[in-house]
Amino acid sequence: MEPLLNIDVDSWEACLPPVCAQRAVDGLEAGRVLFFPRLAFALQAGEEGFLDPASADGRAKNISLDPVRQELKGTALTGAARAGLQAMVARFAAHAHALVSRVLADYAPHLRFGRTSYRPVEVRQRPASYRKDDSRLHVDAFPSRPNRGERILRVFANVNPDGRSRLWRLGEPFEDCAQRFLPRLSAPWPGSRWAMQRAGVTRGYRTLYDHYMLALHDAMKKDTGYQRWCPQTEVAFPAATVWAVFTDQVSHAAMAGQFLFEQTFHVPVSALRTPDHAPLRVLERLMGRQLA
Ligand SMILES: [Fe+2]
Repeated sequence: MEPLLNIDVDSWEACLPPVCAQRAVDGLEAGRVLFFPRLAFALQAGEEGFLDPASADGRAKNISLDPVRQELKGTALTGAARAGLQAMVARFAAHAHALVSRVLADYAPHLRFGRTSYRPVEVRQRPASYRKDDSRLHVDAFPSRPNRGERILRVFANVNPDGRSRLWRLGEPFEDCAQRFLPRLSAPWPGSRWAMQRAGVTRGYRTLYDHYMLALHDAMKKDTGYQRWCPQTEVAFPAATVWAVFTDQVSHAAMAGQFLFEQTFHVPVSALRTPDHAPLRVLERLMGRQLA
């Protein structure tokens, strides 16, 4: 299976003919990356100044916009500059939503907004523990925000002004990866997930699905041998392009690049055309039990 599926549109508001739309959904749910080579997130006059790592506050790796509170975090900017930065990030969120609502129209009524992030820091420069090291192949799972099997759909836009690509590695199919690691993953300690919710460590109850996805994420990143020898492909996303992928399903690693926008959407398994491909269903099948 080719890792990328090209979608030839040049507008955030483009609609696809029904046959192409069906191909896009099937490809995405099978674990391919929807790649939009002719679509770019254009900056407006005055926004070029935000293409500077100093826009970030140096503590968080991303500048992020909370979709409910409309609150910007991770920036040191204040006043009008902060408002301008927030407007740029919010405009990307609106574009990403328009794109997904049209290209993946069946998901539209079910989409739940996650955070929008702007990443002005060079990937290679990020100091990180292995758990936070996104240059290691992994599937996404959130330690503090259980999603109970809901999918993590992410839209990315490379806005690098020097024409530099975003370099990723893509790993093996989810089921192969899960089969490999599941025997090594420990069950949760009795009462631990309840205690984490009560102490505010997790926002909501961490289901068994969340537990095993997080354990899988950590085990993949920790295994340096696996990182080297597992089946993988290098992919370059050029500047001024966009791509969308289920990052809870597709094993990925960010190797290099700077100046990226990302919008997260959550999609319920019930909204998928092929729910059997969802990590929740794959793990439930492999483990022979309900996980969420
Ligand atoms: Fe990731």
